[in-house]
Amino acid sequence: MGLSRSAMPAKVQLLAVMTFALAMLFIENQIQRLEESRAKLELTIARHEVAEVEQRHSEDAGRESGPRAERDDAVVIYNRVPKTASTSFTNIAYDLCGKNGFHVLHINTTKNNPVMSLQDQVRFVRNVTSWREMKPAFYHGHVAYLDFSKYGAAGKPMYINVVRDPIERLVSYYYFLRFGDDYRPALRRRKQGDKKTFDECVSSGGPDCAPDKLWLQIPFFCGHHPECCRWALQQAKFNLVNEYLLVGVTEELEDFVMILEAALPRFFRGATELYRTGKKSHLRKTTDKKPPTKETITKLQQSDIWKIENEFYEFALEQFQFARAHAVRERDGELYVLAQSFFYEKIYPKAN
Ligand SMILES: *[C@@H]1O[C@H](CO)[C@@H](O)[C@H](O)[C@H]1NC(C)=O
Ligand SMILES: *[C@@H]1O[C@H](CO)[C@@H](O)[C@H](O)[C@H]1NC(C)=O
Repeated sequence: MGLSRSAMPAKVQLLAVMTFALAMLFIENQIQRLEESRAKLELTIARHEVAEVEQRHSEDAGRESGPRAERDDAVVIYNRVPKTASTSFTNIAYDLCGKNGFHVLHINTTKNNPVMSLQDQVRFVRNVTSWREMKPAFYHGHVAYLDFSKYGAAGKPMYINVVRDPIERLVSYYYFLRFGDDYRPALRRRKQGDKKTFDECVSSGGPDCAPDKLWLQIPFFCGHHPECCRWALQQAKFNLVNEYLLVGVTEELEDFVMILEAALPRFFRGATELYRTGKKSHLRKTTDKKPPTKETITKLQQSDIWKIENEFYEFALEQFQFARAHAVRERDGELYVLAQSFFYEKIYPKAN
């Protein structure tokens, strides 16, 4: 009994110690778990904050200089050159805008003058940049190129255009002024009633077919500058390469439409199909056009203006053919666009 009497308190003591130790262990464990969950919570909060900051950054970037094609406030400007099949192409935009959800606006300049006054340039750039209700927007009109960054505008539009062989363009314009086209046949044209052919005009040295009338495509790309030859050519080439998303040629309009659709589906999804099926309804033909003779062409080609305009056209053609070679392939006489051929890998740090 003496033993058990003395052993009892020892057992109780041991039990108490063990209970205490267990309790301590349990509490410590709980604390550790709390710490862990606090750390987890902090990490989650930090991640959330980072995500928020990133989101804000990407939104800011989207507003200013982010990937323009993916923003839903994108602006495309098609500063169309007259008589380059521009109406046919613009009609595609009108047909698609409802379905694809963008706005189309025609820039109507007084007397179709492609040069705007300085105050109009500023008004136009401000208006296009800040008119939220109209975005995404497709603007088209016979306006010379405007460099938006020059006016302190945040963000730049995407420019596109189409050029044409300069003599063919002039011939088309010449007959258009006299006979109109099948698009608006009732509209009375400026030179209606004049039956002189383009050949007759060139051989008699008339003003409507004079070489200076060839000077048109360069000014559209060069911008709002006084006309001058070599410098304007260099500037037009520079703008074509650096400021235009894509410049097509009238002679290969379908390929232009196809590449645009692949590059800017936000605007042009369905454009190729529409162009192919509606070729007749979209194509506008100048009535009573008579192709010029070899002599007429040779005579025009002797002028310096033709040489410079033609150099620009050939340059544009070369750029377009380069873009096309890297964008589409031909198989069994059918064109198709190449699929995406890049992907990302080795993305660090790893998620979790
Ligand atoms: C531009 O506006 C003028 C004046 O309202 C109008 O006569 C002309 O037809 C318009 N131009 C086009 C191409 O619609
Ligand atoms: C842009 O111009 C149009 C036509 O003048 C006008 O109705 C619109 O309110 C302008 N938008 C902005 C944001 O200035």
